[in-house]
Amino acid sequence: MTGKRGLGGLSGGQRDKLMQSLRTGRKQAQENRPAGPRRLETAPAFDFGTLPEIKQLKMQRAAADMIGLENPFFRPHDATAGSTTLINGRAFDNFASYNYLGLSGHPQVLEAANAAIARYGTSVSASRVVAGERPLHRELEAALARLHGVEDAVTFVSGHATNVSTIGHMMGTEDLILSDMLIHNSIAEGARLSGAKRLNFAHGDLDMLEQQLASNRHLHDHVLIAVEGLYSMDGDFPDLKRLIALKNRYDAWLLVDEAHSLGVLGTHGRGIAEEFGIDPTSVEMWMGTLSKTLASCGGYIAGSSTLCEYLKATAPGFVYSVGMAPPLAAAALSSITIMERETERVGRLKDNGHYFLKAAKAAGLDTGPSAGYSVVPVIVGDSVQAAMLANALLDDGINVLPIIFPAVAEKAARLRFFITSEHTHDQIDRAVAKTAERLTTIRAGGSALKALLNKAR
Ligand SMILES: Cc1ncc(COP(=O)(O)O)c(C=O)c1O
Repeated sequence: MTGKRGLGGLSGGQRDKLMQSLRTGRKQAQENRPAGPRRLETAPAFDFGTLPEIKQLKMQRAAADMIGLENPFFRPHDATAGSTTLINGRAFDNFASYNYLGLSGHPQVLEAANAAIARYGTSVSASRVVAGERPLHRELEAALARLHGVEDAVTFVSGHATNVSTIGHMMGTEDLILSDMLIHNSIAEGARLSGAKRLNFAHGDLDMLEQQLASNRHLHDHVLIAVEGLYSMDGDFPDLKRLIALKNRYDAWLLVDEAHSLGVLGTHGRGIAEEFGIDPTSVEMWMGTLSKTLASCGGYIAGSSTLCEYLKATAPGFVYSVGMAPPLAAAALSSITIMERETERVGRLKDNGHYFLKAAKAAGLDTGPSAGYSVVPVIVGDSVQAAMLANALLDDGINVLPIIFPAVAEKAARLRFFITSEHTHDQIDRAVAKTAERLTTIRAGGSALKALLNKAR
């Protein structure tokens, strides 16, 4: 499998290119290997800046500095980031947060987290296996299982670690993992760790998946198909019904990563199964993160009790890692309670997503295959112009981040708008209008510069 997404996303082809350049760097390093011991006892620590990979990264940053492109990443926020935020003391309309239902910062969630700290402290200090559980752990897992309509759930301290540990542990060298080429980095890393054979199918292309199953199924013990409930890069979703039919026909397991669909799809925010009226028990592994809709930090696998018990007893990321911090478990649990009580939040998010998509299309913006829920990309098709557009919008008081090469193909460079239930139509209208206006100016400037350069040649 070659699919992997780094800083905000890395598609299969781009990852290959990046890996190729890293391999070249590694080859160079191998050629430069010293024949024997060479460092003195007193020598300073190794200078990582001498690694070819790091030199390349520095060159990219220097090139951006040369053309005056401010780094749009790692901006410090001084407030809870939701539909608005504060950056360096200035207020912005914010389209760069996964706080989909506005629950991070919700008074009831804060109160639950504070009460958990007061009662249990800020950490459970060791793995649940040895340090014991807090009632919150099992309450949260029961709530997640109920939400997904399955028997049980098991929580991990990070969403990323959930996929790496679960897939890395459940699959082995005799197995096969098939995943969408836009699949998240955590799934790609877990697949790599497992040692299983890995294959990607083109984004959303279930015909290609079927061909891969037909040609490879008989060569492997177990087969896992991995997809996302709503793709964080393109904002579209897979055909779950057909996926289930395929995995049944070919005796495979299905993992659906609901990082961006929990709280987003389905009337009650229960995810893609609820959206399409599918029996959730027909999917082997529901994976999700607590860091987005659920205003916390961590991840989980929901499915059969047998699977969850096995993971609890043996998955390295569970057994050998600390249990979830009490305030984080309490925040996620409280968020589930609010989401189930106030389903209108889910409705507002859908309305906002559809409103954004319609307005963006009407303004002539390219939104790719987005279905208009929580994620709407605006494809710019040029990394420098995408970064310039994000910086220009920041000047207009709108925070949205670019996704540029090598995270996506150059022609797919984009701004990615994350929509929440708390955005107003006015905020959306303004963001779309400013994006269209600024993009027209930037493109005109780009064309004029190209014409000038052609003339000078
Ligand atoms: C699809 C997907 N899966 C897993 C993760 C990892 O989750 P976390 O950031 O909570 O570790 C992310 C993070 O953005 C994601 O988008």
